[in-house]
This record gives sequence, structure tokens and C-alpha cells, in this order.
Amino acid sequence: MVAKIIYDENLKMFHLSNDKISYIMHVDHHNVLTHIYMGGKVRNLSTLGIYPKFNRDFEVNPEEVGLDYRQFSLGILPLEYSGNNSGDFREPSLIIRDQEGSTVNDFRYIDHEIFDGVSQIDGLPSSYVEAQDEAKTLRLYLFDEALQHELVLNYTVFNNQPVIARSAKLINKSDQKSVIYKIASASVDVEPGDYDLLQLNGSWARERMVEREAIHTGIKKLDSKRGSSSHHQNPFIAILDKHTTEFRGKAVGYQLVYSGSHEMTVEKDPYQNLRVQLGIQSTGFEWNLSPEESFQTPEVLIAFSNQGINGLSQSYHDFIKQHIIPRKYAEFERPVLINNWEATYFDFTEEKVFDLVDKANELGIELFVLDDGWFGKRDDDFSSLGDWFEYHEKIPNGLKNIADYVHDKGMKFGLWFEPEMISEESELYKNHPDWVLHDVNKRASRGRSQYVLDMGRQEVRENIYTQMIEILDSIDIDYVKWDMNRNISETYSAALEDNKSGEANHRYILGLYDLLDRITSRYDNILFESCSGGGGRFDLGMLQYMPQVWTSDNTDPIARLKIQYGTSMIAPINTMGAHVSASPNHQTGRTTSIDFRAAVAYAGVYGYELDITSLNEDELASIAQQVRFYKENRALIQTGTFTRLMSPFEGNQVAWSIHNDNKMLLFYFEVLNEASKPLHKIKPMYLDPDVKYLVKYEGSEFEAYGDELMNLGIYIYPQLKNDFSARIFEITAI
Ligand code: DGJ
Repeated sequence: MVAKIIYDENLKMFHLSNDKISYIMHVDHHNVLTHIYMGGKVRNLSTLGIYPKFNRDFEVNPEEVGLDYRQFSLGILPLEYSGNNSGDFREPSLIIRDQEGSTVNDFRYIDHEIFDGVSQIDGLPSSYVEAQDEAKTLRLYLFDEALQHELVLNYTVFNNQPVIARSAKLINKSDQKSVIYKIASASVDVEPGDYDLLQLNGSWARERMVEREAIHTGIKKLDSKRGSSSHHQNPFIAILDKHTTEFRGKAVGYQLVYSGSHEMTVEKDPYQNLRVQLGIQSTGFEWNLSPEESFQTPEVLIAFSNQGINGLSQSYHDFIKQHIIPRKYAEFERPVLINNWEATYFDFTEEKVFDLVDKANELGIELFVLDDGWFGKRDDDFSSLGDWFEYHEKIPNGLKNIADYVHDKGMKFGLWFEPEMISEESELYKNHPDWVLHDVNKRASRGRSQYVLDMGRQEVRENIYTQMIEILDSIDIDYVKWDMNRNISETYSAALEDNKSGEANHRYILGLYDLLDRITSRYDNILFESCSGGGGRFDLGMLQYMPQVWTSDNTDPIARLKIQYGTSMIAPINTMGAHVSASPNHQTGRTTSIDFRAAVAYAGVYGYELDITSLNEDELASIAQQVRFYKENRALIQTGTFTRLMSPFEGNQVAWSIHNDNKMLLFYFEVLNEASKPLHKIKPMYLDPDVKYLVKYEGSEFEAYGDELMNLGIYIYPQLKNDFSARIFEITAI
């Protein structure tokens, strides 16, 4: 059903809905915007959810209600966006200090508008529509009289998607400067209940580990102060009903569309009310707002599912394909690639590259990616970042010659960049040492022996842009990998006035988005892949510009079971780069079969990252067969529905499936083998009960109806005999 927004003037209530969700708000007698409901669709607006006014001792009553009225306290109401220091003692959504030093902030509703389409967010990635009738937006205007600041809250509801996009914008309408210390993108006061928190934390090479815990009284803050969305804490949380499972129960997801430092807080007060907030990291944040200036927050996507965590993920998958990544990539079949990084690291020659290309071509691989080491004088990770010109000593016949060689084979050519960084040993550093992000005393930590460029500065971006387009304009390049290999510290910017270093972090991200926008829109034909030491910036901000991300530097298939499982919570698998690499694995030292490595990597944007020139005939035959299998099933894998069936975080068996109307690929994995183990079964989901299917695996086949397969399940028989083993069932409608 199409998106609908109703304002009932008598009830002073707003109702955003489609066939899957409802979001309801109320403007109370004091013009406080209260939260009524977010969840499954309700048909009518009613006063049912309006919070009663009553007295709670030790809550305070705003001055406006007079001496003898104690029934009205901001601190007990479910609010849409809490103020600060004005009687709500829970977490504030914003903190603004005026010229006199007051941090009392209290915004009340004054007006609204409803329009087709989304709210355009300048300078930041956000959900989009291609036609205005795909969504409707409610814009609420709130005002703080004393502060003379306007707060604009945007709510967008989309056709057929259980997702609400929210963001906030603050405008200084006074004649004095103010400072913002905190400004959340969204705050949601959830009704009292027994909830769990689901989060994705990790580290380099161990991204997006799933953790679920009970929410207790108090404040829990999950965040990144790393200048990026980070390997360590993905900007996503979900609030689950206590009994919610993968397939049953209520789950509400919150995902920031932002690539920088962020924070997510969950506060349960002693009355069991829950407040959920997401936004830019407030520690160190200090944004100066002059008269008439405004500050726009990133967007949050709030998704609802009453079909468990899988339902939530599937909604996000669909939404991201339609409204976050460029829409052409929703269906665009991504080429099977080979990347030379783990095959050669920095140590490649033209001959080696040609050998890899020749072999890749024989195996049916479609895209060759030349990774780090082709520019400046880059032989290791100590030099040359910032010098985006060819390293002639290493590639004497030039990049164009390599690109031509690849293209002559009928393959595509890709190239690696790390545009946001600078090495001390570089031409760029010699000429512009002040372009390094450093504090006022010139302190700057190194990470991977490199510095960060001050992307907040226009002249820095211009330089990198000019260097990059010189390469991209002169050489036929089909794919670019945009890497970023350290976190950001000393975020003071030499270009900002003295009191503005609290802006540097966010200005960096705004600058990054500006550069990404200029580069990606200039090259419509180039497929961009985002990377940050693997999955250090796997967020919806980056996905808006680049429809796929290198999921992790960890290519070990056992580690990948967890990493890909966790990542599937937030994004569709056609955004997840997944490569078969060497065995023993370079990150974990684990030895696994080439078939097992492929079985795990199939659930993603597939590729290879190993020296295929040194493999034996059997391994090469396996790869050729794997590439054929992936290509045959690519449309299904990249556009079908991904379902998690058995969790690697819970046991030895892992399973997932990908299906469309005609076919399902059902993947079953066992991590360690056991003696005398139970005879396991797997039960697929989402088949049509009335359709007969042909089930094929490892040379065997049988026929069964969907209801039989889903209810009786399939025995894992013959049993798997080794550690790290997999079985793939191809289930095709007859
Ligand atoms: C980190 C990336 O994740 C790797 O794939 C590779 O591109 C290296 N950087 C190159 O320095």
C-alpha cells in the first residue's frame, strides 16, 4: 500500500502509515510533541495511546502551568525529541548553549507540512526516491521561544516498506551565536517492557559480531569515536521483545546513515520507559551556529518487523536496494573479480599481473583489480599515499598498458585508491605538510604509519580530486576500490578558527561525502567498492555512493561465517564483497578446502584473492567450476531474498538460504566434525508449499513438495565427514 500521512486536527495527532507500519504522534495541550506508537499497522487514529497526565513526585512542572498544577511533567511523557535541562531528566536529544551560557532547551510544536517524496538532506547521504509518489514526508516545526531556535523534524514513510526515515535540523533564528554540544538524529521513547538489545561490535578482521543482551535500568551507550563508523561498533542497534527470535516476534531496528563517529544510547528509566537515541558522537562535538545558520543531522532508518530479526533484516535489505544504493545496482549483476592483494601484496611486476590476468581469464573471472602499490613509489605501507600518479619503475609500460591487456581479454579492469590519506614520504606531504589533520600543537598520531588528510578543506579535496580524475579520465577503468586504512585522531583542523575544533570530525565526513559525490557522479560507468581495512566503514552512508563494500580483511571462511552472518543484519548480500583466498588462510592460519571457501563466499559479491598461478590442476578445475556455478546463480544470489537459518554464534552448524520465486540455494555448514554425531536435518523456509521442487546436491537428486521440505526437512545424509565442511542444495521449482 502506498504511504499515507494523516493529520487529525481535532485530535492533534499525526499518523504515518502504509500496509506494514504505523507511526503516531500527538501534540498535547502544551504543544509538546509526544510519541504514541511505532509498530505494525493500525487502521485508525485513536486517543488510546495518549499518555495520561498525572503527578509523579520529584518530577517538575513547567512554569507555564502555574503554581497548583502538578499533572504535567516533561520527564514522564513519551517525547518525540527531548529538550535539555527543562524538566525531563532522561537523556537529552540535544544540548545547545546560548550566548549567556544557558543550556535550557525546550522545543514546542508550532506547525507542520506534508509533502510527496523525501526530505532533501543537503551534503549528507540519505534515503531517496526516484518518483515523488514513492514516499510521503511530514515536516514538523518546533520552536524554543527563549532560545529563538527552530527545530525541524523530518519523518518519511515509504510505499510498502516498514521503515521510517527520521532526521532533524536546527536553525538559529536569534541574533546571537549559539553552540550545539549534542544533536541526535532521532530519539524514540518506547513503551515500558522487557526488551533485549541487539548490537554489532567487533574489531579489524572480526567485524559485526552479533551480541544480544537484556536491557536493564540505566544508560547503555554504544559508540565510535574513531572518526569512522568503525569495525568496532556498527551504527545499528535493534530493540527486541524478550521472546523475539530470528523468525518470530517484534523487532525494531535503528540504523544511522552516517560514516563518522556516532553514538547510540538506550536508557531504561526506573519506570521502565525506554529511550533510544542515535546520532553523531557528542563527545568532543561542538558546533557553532551563527544567526540564520542551520545544522542538519544525518538520517536514521527505523525499521519494524513482527517476524523476528530475519524479517527486520529482509526489510532493510529491500529498503537499501530501493532507497539507499543507486537503484540501478539493485539488479545490476556484479562481475566475478580477482584482486591481486593477497596474491602479491606490494610485490608485483607487470609479468606477474599479466600471468594472473591470463589465468583468471581462463577460469572465467570477469574483473581484474590491481590493488595497493601502483602509484608514487609504493613498495610497502610507509610511503606514497597522496601521490596518485603511476609508479613507472614498477609498471614501466604504464597502467594503460595493463588496462588494455585486461580489456583485450574481454575482462574488466579495476584500480585501488586510498584518497583520504597521506604518507610522510610523499610529494604531497613535502608540498603540503599542513594538510595533515593535527591539533594546534601539531600533534598527529600515525596509524599504519600514515596520516589523515584534512578532508574538511576544499583545497585538499580539490587536489585529490584532480589527481584521481587524471588517472580515471585517461585510463579505461571499470571499477574502483576506495580504501581507508586507519582511524582518525587529533581532529583539530588548522583551517578552522580557534574555537571550532569540535567541528573538525563532522566536517571531515561532510568533505568526504562531497568528494565521493563528485567522483562517483562523474563516472557513472565505474563500479565503486568501499573499503576500510575491510569492513571498517560498512555503513549506509558509504553505500549511497558505493553499492558494495569489502566486508572484511579476514577471508578465512570460518571467520567469515560469523562476519557475513552479522553483516546480513544490516545490508543485503549484494553489497558484501566475499572472496576465496589462499589456504592456509593469511589471517587465521586455518587450512580449509577450496570448495568450502567458495561455499561461504557465494553468499556475497563473489571473487578471488589468491595467487591462482600457483595452484594445482585440481584446484584450478574447482575454481573454473565455482565461477560457472556463481554465474549461473548470480541473478538469484544478488537479487534474491537472503535468510539466516542457523547461527554461527550459537553452535557448530550454520545455515542460510537465498531464494526467488523459482529457485532456492540452501547452504549448510558444519564447523567441526564430531564422532557419533546426531543425524542433523535442515528445514528451509519460504518455499511454496504447493509447488513441487527438484532438490540437487553432490550428484544426488530427489523431488518433493514445498510443504514436505519445510516441515519434514532434509537429512544431512550422508553425514559430512570433515571439519569445515559444507553442503549446498539447489532447490528448483518444477
Ligand atoms: C586494506 C584492504 O582491506 C585490503 O583489501 C587491501 O586493499 C589493503 N588495504 C591494501 O593496502
